[in-house]
Amino acid sequence: MNEDKKVVLAYSGGLDTSVMIAWLKEKYGLEAIAVLVDAGRASRLEELRQKALSIGAAESIVIDAREEFAHDFVLPSLAANALYEERYPLVSALSRPLICKLLVGVAHKAGAVAVAHGCTAKGNDQVRFDLGIRALDPSLEILAPAREWGMTREQALEYAVAHDIPVPLKKDSPYSIDENLWGRAVECGPLEDPWQEPPGDAYAVTCAPEAAPDEPAYLEIGFEAGEPVSLNGSEMPMVDLIDRVDGIGAAHGFGRIDMIENRLVGIKSREVYETPGALALIMAHRDLEDLVLPRDLSHFKRSLERKFADMLYNGGWFDPLMVALRAFMEETQRRVSGTVRLKYYKGSCKVVGRKSANSLYDLGLATYGGGDIFSHEAAKGFCELFGLPLEVWARKER
Ligand code: ARG
Repeated sequence: MNEDKKVVLAYSGGLDTSVMIAWLKEKYGLEAIAVLVDAGRASRLEELRQKALSIGAAESIVIDAREEFAHDFVLPSLAANALYEERYPLVSALSRPLICKLLVGVAHKAGAVAVAHGCTAKGNDQVRFDLGIRALDPSLEILAPAREWGMTREQALEYAVAHDIPVPLKKDSPYSIDENLWGRAVECGPLEDPWQEPPGDAYAVTCAPEAAPDEPAYLEIGFEAGEPVSLNGSEMPMVDLIDRVDGIGAAHGFGRIDMIENRLVGIKSREVYETPGALALIMAHRDLEDLVLPRDLSHFKRSLERKFADMLYNGGWFDPLMVALRAFMEETQRRVSGTVRLKYYKGSCKVVGRKSANSLYDLGLATYGGGDIFSHEAAKGFCELFGLPLEVWARKER
């Protein structure tokens, strides 16, 4: 009886979300509108779009959201130097709110009653989808078939075959992979043993550090109010810029992360990431901030960056606290303009130079050579008063 009720499905083209198109119809009588969001590094888009239609999707849409992802999600996250547990640049966490926004937009246009995603019960992504969709439109029903159908990989394959859904021809990769402009996340398979070194085939973007060129490479990144705008002096759109920085790091074996991560749902998991662009840009951006932000602002900002990363990781992009944090971060970026020079060498990337018209570095104050303008006499009095409470305490202590 629900014949023409519609559900908007976050479709990736993989086995699970393909099966979902048929399953949503069978189980709920819902017509699926498949939405494939390209947040960077997506491939075979038209083929996957057609595949959804062949399975029986009422509509199949590909949305090129790379620009929006770069400007509305990556950029604020870069402003906050966001790294979860000081290491992970939040690749998947960042794309989820974008996808939610696009799904809800399609749902409104199409008059859909529900939104569906392919996340399982054990990950963070389900939380991000559920919270994101509820924040944007609490009246939409949220369906997460993979959370309720209890199918194993084999059962999903059987279901696909029984329903004429194309299945992968070559043997499946053992990994679960999520990828976008900001990086690549790899889980499962042999990585589930935290003692085992990630096999070479876990990596698809970066070369092994030992195979990287023996010559170092330098790269100059120009920032304008916190936004990376140029490489080696030539300006380019942010999407291209991130791509290029990614490519340079990848070629030098930089950007691999192998970590034990605390998921929101209580599980510790072993995660591998390849994020040469994100890590280099955060490193450069942070370094430039050290040059142009005054101490108190910088220290306070660092303490909020952690909160920002946690909120983002935990699916809180649309939370009012997050909105306020973003406003704070944005305000701090006004003078974050300048150039940072990076040096890549066999798996490492380091900042080796920075300059800015807004630099607070004053050679006259810092130098130990000639031309010193720092007031040495004032320092004596400063130490006297600064240490006074400690001295008073020490006298009593003796
Ligand atoms: N652990 C990371 C996160 O929670 C990556 C998740 C990647 N998702 C995936 N389907 N492989 O953000």
